[in-house]
Amino acid sequence: NNNNNNKPNSWVSPDWLTSLTRSLTITKDDDSGIPVANAKLDDVSELLGGALFLPLFKWMNEYGPIYRLAAGPRNFVVVSDPAIAKHVLRNYGKYGKGLVSEVSEFLFGSGVAIAEGPLWTTRRRAVVPSLHRKYLSVMVDRVFCKCAQRLVEKLKPDAVGGIAVNMEEKFSQLTLDVIGLSVFNYNFDSLNADSPVIDAVYTALKEAEARSTDLLPYWKINALCKIIPRQIKAENAVTVIRRTVEELVAKCKEMVEAEGERIDEEEYVNDADPSILRFLLASREEVSSVQLRDDLLSMLVAGHETTGSVLTWTLYLLSKNSTSLVKAQEEIDRVLQGRPPTYEDIKDLKFLTRCIIESLRLYPHPPVLIRRAQGADMLPGAYKVNSGQDIMISVYNIHRSSQVWERAEEFLPERFDLEGPVPNETNTDFRFIPFGGGPRKCVGDQFALLEAIVALAIFLQHLNFELVPDQTISMTTGATIHTTNGLYMKLSQRQTKSAFVPLASR
Ligand code: HEM
Repeated sequence: NNNNNNKPNSWVSPDWLTSLTRSLTITKDDDSGIPVANAKLDDVSELLGGALFLPLFKWMNEYGPIYRLAAGPRNFVVVSDPAIAKHVLRNYGKYGKGLVSEVSEFLFGSGVAIAEGPLWTTRRRAVVPSLHRKYLSVMVDRVFCKCAQRLVEKLKPDAVGGIAVNMEEKFSQLTLDVIGLSVFNYNFDSLNADSPVIDAVYTALKEAEARSTDLLPYWKINALCKIIPRQIKAENAVTVIRRTVEELVAKCKEMVEAEGERIDEEEYVNDADPSILRFLLASREEVSSVQLRDDLLSMLVAGHETTGSVLTWTLYLLSKNSTSLVKAQEEIDRVLQGRPPTYEDIKDLKFLTRCIIESLRLYPHPPVLIRRAQGADMLPGAYKVNSGQDIMISVYNIHRSSQVWERAEEFLPERFDLEGPVPNETNTDFRFIPFGGGPRKCVGDQFALLEAIVALAIFLQHLNFELVPDQTISMTTGATIHTTNGLYMKLSQRQTKSAFVPLASR
């Protein structure tokens, strides 16, 4: 039941699909200077199948780095150009989150990921300090390493028995366990058990994904939400998750108050409970329990499937590129000498880091960022947008455009200098934006990179893997890029080259 490949069935009927296609093209030209994409029936089927970013890529090659797309009642300007993306992302005051808030409000409430205006400013200021350096180093030792080691132990019998394992599912379980412990010190233990809370998290995540590709937002109509089975299921799931988080907040609040705990240094970590929740409560900010619940849910959702998908696609890319795999494993053996990584080791795992960065370039999560213009504006290149215009920044297109990258479609970790800085939006001038950019950039970018490096270092240290033959690995999407049918690998145990210490004896 943790299989995240089962997208909810679309309720959209074929008749509706046909009528939609008729309304797909904008016939009236406008004075914006933005070319209009002319979508065909095949493209619409692809849109409804959920892999929206694939036709967007095709149209970039046809219409250029900015074009307009009308889909039923919606009309988007699609951007595949770093300079325009930079303009939109940096000018948060002029561009709000728009549609993203609409599709995920049922889950995030007023959480930091979708809040706007002064509420967002206050909550962002409260949340960011919790992800400080000392917190991250504690997470590496106490959560990232432990959870990855548990995964390897769990996989060993499959490795011995030669059983094919769906690694996408395993990585999704791993990252759920990590984010639960890190954000609110809650052990989902999804690697080992099923629980109603885990089911609820997956149901809610799938619903958010489905909503992001539903062209007709029928879930906005309250009465329909009470009778459509998918909506009833989603509402029940959100109730379970919210209740669980509310209980965690209440329990933690009691402890903080009983102990009179108060943050007394910038890099504060409570030794017994180093979670973000504890930090936020000990900081004694004036914040309601509901707001806190929604902020924590924002982080749970934003940090779970994203990091899981990075692990999935990096493993896939390494399985197809044996030279890079050997290089990564040699680096891991040399730097770690058979032990688990520490926070200090991570800066030395330079090649592995570039493999993850290159994977984020080819498979960015989410592949498309959405904004809505708050007023009329002029985009770089003299393109006019009107107030209320929905904009899609296709990160996938920018990352795979031959105008932006040489040999754009190839996996080449070496393209990033090992001795140079780790690429980000600033040092690539928005050519590489897997964590977005500007004021609403991801707050968990360092967390996610550390988590991915640790998980892969431990996995590659102890296991060899091979793609099960005759699998077609294709992409589908919602909030992140998923495989369509899972990523099945045959695993085998690997003896590290130096000072091998069995996990159990550490
Ligand atoms: C926002 C990507 C992991 C928390 C974002 C955005 C992107 C992103 C692209 C900006 C969205 C936009 O501009 O519309 C990723 C990727 C991750 C990852 C690729 C993993 C590899 C995490 C983790 C956390 C997190 C681990 C929490 C610990 C957030 C939050 C926001 C956000 C709270 C909203 C920030 C705001 O609106 O002010 N993420 N993220 N993310 N991310 Fe991440």
